[in-house]
Amino acid sequence: MRTQVGIIGAGPAGLLLSRLLQLQGIDTVVLENRSRDYVEARIRAGILEQHTVSTLIDAGVGDRLQREGLPHDGIFLQYPGTRHHLDFPELCGRKVWVYGQTEVTKDLISAQLAGGPPLLFEVSDVTPEDVDTDHPRIRFTDADGVSQVLECDVIAGTDGFHGVSRPVVTAGTSGLLWERTYPYAWLGILADVAPSEDELVYAWHPDGFALLSMRSPSVSRLYLQVDPDEKIEDWSDDRIWDGLSTRFALDGWELETGPVTEKSILPMRSFVSAPMRRGRLFLAGDAAHIVPPTGAKGLNLAVADVTLLATALVRLLAEKQTDLVDSYRGRPLARVWRCTHFSWWMTSMLHRSGDDFDAELQLSQLRRVCSSEAAARELAENYTGLPLDV
Ligand code: APR
Ligand code: PHB
Repeated sequence: MRTQVGIIGAGPAGLLLSRLLQLQGIDTVVLENRSRDYVEARIRAGILEQHTVSTLIDAGVGDRLQREGLPHDGIFLQYPGTRHHLDFPELCGRKVWVYGQTEVTKDLISAQLAGGPPLLFEVSDVTPEDVDTDHPRIRFTDADGVSQVLECDVIAGTDGFHGVSRPVVTAGTSGLLWERTYPYAWLGILADVAPSEDELVYAWHPDGFALLSMRSPSVSRLYLQVDPDEKIEDWSDDRIWDGLSTRFALDGWELETGPVTEKSILPMRSFVSAPMRRGRLFLAGDAAHIVPPTGAKGLNLAVADVTLLATALVRLLAEKQTDLVDSYRGRPLARVWRCTHFSWWMTSMLHRSGDDFDAELQLSQLRRVCSSEAAARELAENYTGLPLDV
């Protein structure tokens, strides 16, 4: 088998890269080690920045997003006694969309399977080789158990945090890693109940953080800060709703409850790996960096990487110019660090840990964002998405 760009991983990063390259006449093959059902059932975050929405629409995969996505003009920040609305269009002229990453993935897969480039599920033993030459290849075993070799001009490692690509990049370069694990986790639920508020509520509470989000006018997505070693079996639906009701409590307002259809515990970490390239192997998305979900940046950062990478690969493969692939080694990192800082800042402001001194600092910061236009604008600009080159 031969292709121009061999793409490892069919998450949003790999699928969108394949789509953007196809539109520019570049051949790709996408290799995914899970099944289509598994990939389409994985529940992830659900906030899209303006840039992400325009990229998906321009790539011809935004029809359902435009029909079903919910445009939001802001968020609420809550601390005891106060629920304050931040109006994004007023603060920075942009807004965000609520549309699950799972839905983005489904839309990209169905576009790809309807006459797009090959997308192979349930492959195994995926191994990038000879990435320091102009003729790298990917060895893998296909779904029928047959060993295959995919000869490529370039390999894209979009195989997420646990993938095989990043170790190959770091093994062959003087790579650097930065990591922060947080002393808390999120317990997330999906529930068949209309969202109790029309936009997201990020709540600080002495018991811990809570987030009210949604997937549609009839499905709520809610999160609760818990200890990282909590077991999901210890959290009955009643215990979860009680915790949420306490943390969102506000005079004259009621949290509506309903049947819980999914629940899980998510770890929180920040992670950045550099460089994002070794020879002809390029990393994008979670393969290169992870942010905690508080700023809703993970998917948007992956889309930003892939936008830069697609342009750089078209320039290399169609125009034989190496300037943009050379700068890709570090160019996305300025934006990655901006989003890493913003996600860390939102996370640190809203989650309970430490002592009473820490709690007073958090409350002081929250009051500042809710009372100063300058402080609110700083949050709004970051939340709705900064330009590709920051
Ligand atoms: N071979 C082939 N595929 C692999 C391998 C491998 N060895 N290892 C992992 N994969 C696949 C995973 O099964 C997954 O489908 O690579 C894909 C990576 O997708 P994601 O983890 O979704 O990462 P990415 O596409 O970078 O998406 C960005 O945004 O909201 C965040 O973390 C969230 O996943 C999200 C991310
Ligand atoms: C979600 O809806 O899953 C979601 C929304 C906002 C976040 C994180 C997750 O900050």
